[in-house]
Amino acid sequence: MNQTFQPNIKLGIIAGGQLGKMLIQVASKWDVDTFVMDNDDQCPAGAIATGFTLGSMADFDAVYAFGKTVDLLTYEIEHINVAALKKLKSEGLTIFPEPEVLELIQDKGLQKQFFQTHKIPTADFSLFTSADDIRTAVENGLVSLPFVQKLRKGGYDGRGVAVIQSEADLAELLQGPSVIEPMVAIDKEIAVIAARNIQGEVNCFPVVEMVFDAKANLVDKLICPSSVASELAVQADQIAQQLVRSLPLTGLLAVEFFIDKNNQLLVNEIAPRPHNSGHHTIESMMTSQFEQHLRAVLGLPLGSTRMLMPSVMINLLGEPGYSGPVLYEGVPECMAIEGVNMHLYGKKTTRPYRKMGHVTIIAPTLAEALQNAEKVKHYLKVKSC
Ligand SMILES: Nc1ncnc2c1ncn2[C@@H]1O[C@H](COP(=O)(O)OP(=O)(O)OP(=O)(O)O)[C@@H](O)[C@H]1O
Ligand SMILES: [Mg+2]
Repeated sequence: MNQTFQPNIKLGIIAGGQLGKMLIQVASKWDVDTFVMDNDDQCPAGAIATGFTLGSMADFDAVYAFGKTVDLLTYEIEHINVAALKKLKSEGLTIFPEPEVLELIQDKGLQKQFFQTHKIPTADFSLFTSADDIRTAVENGLVSLPFVQKLRKGGYDGRGVAVIQSEADLAELLQGPSVIEPMVAIDKEIAVIAARNIQGEVNCFPVVEMVFDAKANLVDKLICPSSVASELAVQADQIAQQLVRSLPLTGLLAVEFFIDKNNQLLVNEIAPRPHNSGHHTIESMMTSQFEQHLRAVLGLPLGSTRMLMPSVMINLLGEPGYSGPVLYEGVPECMAIEGVNMHLYGKKTTRPYRKMGHVTIIAPTLAEALQNAEKVKHYLKVKSC
């Protein structure tokens, strides 16, 4: 008899941001019921999930109680109470990616040690328990300026990262246990999203290249195919596969890399979930990152990561100077351009640099997609009334 697929599984998703919303859009296509827990009842995924639970992902009781209501649990954010996940797992709940992997990834210090143990190329680092300890180490010549400080836990979208250029900047050190890295002379930042399914099959999406907005420290534009040399792209793919196999993890693993001025590939950090750097896959690849995650955790074969068309992805960020109920300017102008795919996350209020949506521009050539992306950036603004 052929294998059967039972869609009437209750899939739990912790957190209901845009990543959860896009995951649900695929689950819905396959008639999989989705249940979301988030601490905001206005969150993007809440309105389209089969069921919604209000609760804090940092809270043991809330996570545990939510887990008891679903058949399979996954997540779209790292900052979750892992003790609750481990207890749920010990009582028989299937959780992908595995809670032990999440526990490691939640802590940038443990991540760096993991890279070191597994001989994954990464920037040098040292660990400190407080800002005072870092100041003392600088005074004693054990840490030299400039350097980058990263809080071991709780950072996202560049919050939790401090670039310390001079002695004066030492006053800006973040409080809490942190990782210190030398400033890498970055030539390019790229990412690879790898997937591993229950059966152990692994594949990766093509390399994407991120271009950063220096002011917001957020990805401004993401291009695929990237401009990196093919040897480096192959190496990045191999490292991503090695990581996903050695954790080992079921689901998606996003791997962020730096390429330094000496053409050295360094892993910056990893995330066990769909990632901002994979949004373009929805329109530009045979399989989207969200579908790939679902295939992986449902025990289905992984989908093809073949590229259909070159793409440029731009994040739609709240314009500086506007806070309050959101208003989108320039939508019809953008929608008139061929290959423009707009995604509005449904966040009701905007604030400066808040991620409110994204646009993926596909075209037969990357040059054309880049040209059209500039037009979209010119027209499309997230403001407030
Ligand atoms: N050692 C380093 N040298 C130079 N720049 C760095 C270094 N570490 C981080 N950065 C810069 O800071 C950015 C944010 O760092 P990182 O990815 O570790 O933080 P994050 O808060 O997890 O960010 P995000 O959620 O956007 O991925 C990097 O993408 C890079 O541009
Ligand atoms: Mg990062």
